[in-house]
Amino acid sequence: MLTYIVLLGPPGVGKGTQSKFIASELSLPHISTGDIFRANIKQGNELGKLADSFISKGQLVPDDVTIALLRERFTQPDCKNGAILDGFPRTPAQADALQILLNSFGGKVNLVLFITAPTESLIERLAGRWSCRAQGHIFHERFNPPKVKGICDIDGSELYQRDDDKAETVLNRIQIYKKQTAPLIEYYTERRLLIEINGIEPIESVSMQVRSVVKKALSSSHG
Ligand code: AP5
Repeated sequence: MLTYIVLLGPPGVGKGTQSKFIASELSLPHISTGDIFRANIKQGNELGKLADSFISKGQLVPDDVTIALLRERFTQPDCKNGAILDGFPRTPAQADALQILLNSFGGKVNLVLFITAPTESLIERLAGRWSCRAQGHIFHERFNPPKVKGICDIDGSELYQRDDDKAETVLNRIQIYKKQTAPLIEYYTERRLLIEINGIEPIESVSMQVRSVVKKALSSSHG
């Protein structure tokens, strides 16, 4: 049975954190377009250079590039049962492309988790975020600190702070989210796929909400 869950919400709300939990619980790949772009930036290839020219300013990478990237990712064997999509789609054009792509192999979006939190919390979360170099595991210096400062608990790799988490870039990312991504709230509400998650609570409480919503939605969606 194919399962596709989309995580929608502003920068820093906890999409990556919750995606990792759901992916591990449902044994599905966690696909973060942001992580894929960052891996390409690290490699210094053409895609990385192009993506960096947008990401460093807090802007979205153009739709055609991002859609082609996702299409390619879906051809990989780990996607055979579906995926948890973190940060894709981010525009109505991406959402339309996703629907066409999934339809082409008999899939559909089963659920959209829309996580919310006030802007002050987003800024605080991004300013204190540390991510691991190897696999993108996510920590926070106050809300989810690693056992050893600067080292990932899970794979022992170095933790780093993202360049696009600088205060001025964060504000731009939030503006871009409001303009270009927030229309997806209505898009998926109209399709009766969107469920709002209160992301202001601690990570464990948000996970409990998410777990219960996912269980209920998948049992009715897969019938
Ligand atoms: P991307 O990497 O997707 O960034 P984002 O959407 O801005 O989201 P973040 O990764 O910053 O935050 P998150 O919601 O995942 O929060 P997290 O769980 O880490 O994209 C980066 C860039 O790539 C974009 O700006 C764009 O340029 C480009 N891009 C990517 N996808 C694209 C697309 N589809 N189209 C075009 N361009 C694209 O949590 C944040 C922090 O808070 C962590 O430290 C965490 O530990 C902590 N935390 C999490 N939950 C809680 C909680 N409940 N309480 C307290 N702390 C918490």
